[in-house]
Amino acid sequence: MAGPRQKVEELRARLRAADHAYYVLDRPLLADAEYDRLMRELAEVEAAHPELQSPDSPTQRVGGTPSEEFAKVAHREPMLSIQNAMSDEELEEFDARVRRLLGIAEAEPVGYVCEPKLDGLAVELVYEDGRFVQGSTRGDGVHGEDVTPNLRTVGRTGANPGVPLRLAGEVPPRLEVRGEVLLQKAHFQAMNRLLARRADEARQAGRRPTEEPKANPRNAAAGSLRQKDWRVTATRPLSFIAYEAAIPGEALPWATHWEKLQAIAGWGFEVNPENRRCRGLAEVKAFRDRMAVGRFALPYDTDGLVVKVDDLDQRRRLGAASKTPRWAVAWKYPPQEEATQVVEIVASVGRTGVLTPVAVVKPVVLSGATVTNATLHNEDELRRKDVRIGDWVLMRRAGEVIPEIVMALPERRTGAEKVFEFPRQCPVCGARVVREEGEKVWRCTGAACPAQLVGRLCHFAQRRALDIEGLGEMVAAQLVERSLVKDFADLYRVPFEAWQQIFSRPQKAEAREGKRKEPPTKAAQNLVEALEQSKRTTLRRLLFGLGIPQVGEATAAALARHFGTLEALLEAGEEQLTAVRDVGPAVAGEIRAWTGEPQNREVVRRLLEAGLVPAPEEAPTGGAFAGRTVVLTGTLARLSRDEAKAEIERRGGKVSGSVSRKTDLVVAGEEAGSKRKKAEELGVKVIGEEEFLALLEGGA
Ligand code: IVH
Repeated sequence: MAGPRQKVEELRARLRAADHAYYVLDRPLLADAEYDRLMRELAEVEAAHPELQSPDSPTQRVGGTPSEEFAKVAHREPMLSIQNAMSDEELEEFDARVRRLLGIAEAEPVGYVCEPKLDGLAVELVYEDGRFVQGSTRGDGVHGEDVTPNLRTVGRTGANPGVPLRLAGEVPPRLEVRGEVLLQKAHFQAMNRLLARRADEARQAGRRPTEEPKANPRNAAAGSLRQKDWRVTATRPLSFIAYEAAIPGEALPWATHWEKLQAIAGWGFEVNPENRRCRGLAEVKAFRDRMAVGRFALPYDTDGLVVKVDDLDQRRRLGAASKTPRWAVAWKYPPQEEATQVVEIVASVGRTGVLTPVAVVKPVVLSGATVTNATLHNEDELRRKDVRIGDWVLMRRAGEVIPEIVMALPERRTGAEKVFEFPRQCPVCGARVVREEGEKVWRCTGAACPAQLVGRLCHFAQRRALDIEGLGEMVAAQLVERSLVKDFADLYRVPFEAWQQIFSRPQKAEAREGKRKEPPTKAAQNLVEALEQSKRTTLRRLLFGLGIPQVGEATAAALARHFGTLEALLEAGEEQLTAVRDVGPAVAGEIRAWTGEPQNREVVRRLLEAGLVPAPEEAPTGGAFAGRTVVLTGTLARLSRDEAKAEIERRGGKVSGSVSRKTDLVVAGEEAGSKRKKAEELGVKVIGEEEFLALLEGGA
């Protein structure tokens, strides 16, 4: 085992490299959680071995070293960092220490202000007689970088008030305001799309891109602010949110931090509207728990809360330790980002034969769920991210969204990593794999590829199509493997015993489909029942489920509305098809090619023979819910779930069972639970029963 000295040296070297990458290069080397872990480990070893302590240890410094590219600015007061709390105990310890140092009795709550911990970069702005004269980054806490010209442009794109150049109202002769420069999530995405496009264009022209897309809003904000040319910064939609102010050489004119925040807002800065005044730790915890969910609906990223003692005199008495003040603590939510290693990259074959590269990773827990793989979408994306087999990668899962690989961490390569090459033969059926001119994807050419069939069955059975509950990927794969099904119509002819056999297989497969284990007979009965029910589907669901190229849900609905019956569609020529709204010649051509194929006509005939009766749908009235997807949750007092559903559908809306980004509205009755929570996380509008009834009345 390595001795403590060696351990300390190793940890310091890793942390320094990570600091350099993060603060100077704006390109993180480690996930935040991992960085925090290493830092804690180092602090623990140093605490146990005081002889190994050193003033230049990463534990003794704040943040990064200022870059040589900018002039240095000395902060009049050091810009400290904040001690972290990751558990209730650590939060309680903080509160206990505040009381102990201030001599406050246990029964008396300490006044705190809770602020979302903004995930951008901290800056200091200096104002003289109300004019902005200098602005700097935090740097190492003592010296920052002079980015005055860049800061002058913050807010010019209108993202928020930004950095005011002149302050409003009465202002002291010299004033220092601190806060965070950040990029809102939506602005970050838009900016990254632009950077990705420019980088692609540069590469296509044989040039080296000047700037690649950024890993997260924080790096994007830092990269945007720390531009050599302020005109580049001026194009970035940066925001500034202020959270501290100081008046050098003078006693502060406020009794509390809260009053200070009001004054800051009065001068023309944005102060975070989410900030809350809390009496005592219980209120702090309650606010923290609400924000644990609510934060996902905020326009910017936040990974925690800063809890500050409100009374400024108490703050003064508490003072600061070497690196952190004793009056503040940062609550950190469990991480959303983790580093892990790519074990393998596989090509997964979908229903249209497209090969999607999927990275299989060592399991990591991200916002509570274990993640084992992540799609890399297509070859271009794979090359752009340059993810290799064996690479360390940064994984993220924001809210409830699908996990993604943010980027590879090439600094951690050993040389043993392998570049993934797309197979030239389908990994499932062995047929040739081709990438056509101008196409983004590789495709299996096997007409009878079982993987494609499995994909088509899953597409057919999904909730938005025929809605055959219980028919997921594992079951579909079994049907294909056992040669029970060659097309959709075969589904309705699978003997009961075969279903039973499929469901008697070992537990694992069902578990992966996210289902509880039912007795095989029961599961088989449920499936047969679901198949029976699916026969009374609607035309648009059937058209969507058939998987006609270019026919998504919206086009399927338009076709169903226009033609009314399957027969009419099958006979429609090009001209009749292009008469449908949103159907152009290209889509019409695809539909014609599909309906013209004898095999497809045969499948349709056999589906109808099996007893499928697709109902034509009423044309939506263009009512209050036209084109909107609504989710009902909780108990409504005045009407039943089915009545509510019918009312919405009558007004042109669609009712869905689960909340996703595509949901437009959630109607929450009494005791609405997880769906409401999820809607709030995703920023989907939630209304109560009263408002819902008003909509029904108003828009009918
Ligand atoms: S107050 C010593 N308030 O957290 C306290 N900081 O670890 C001075 N931060 O670099 C800072 N949101 O970038 C404060 N509402 C907030 C904050 C906040 C984010 C960051 C800031 C600083 C870091 C300290």
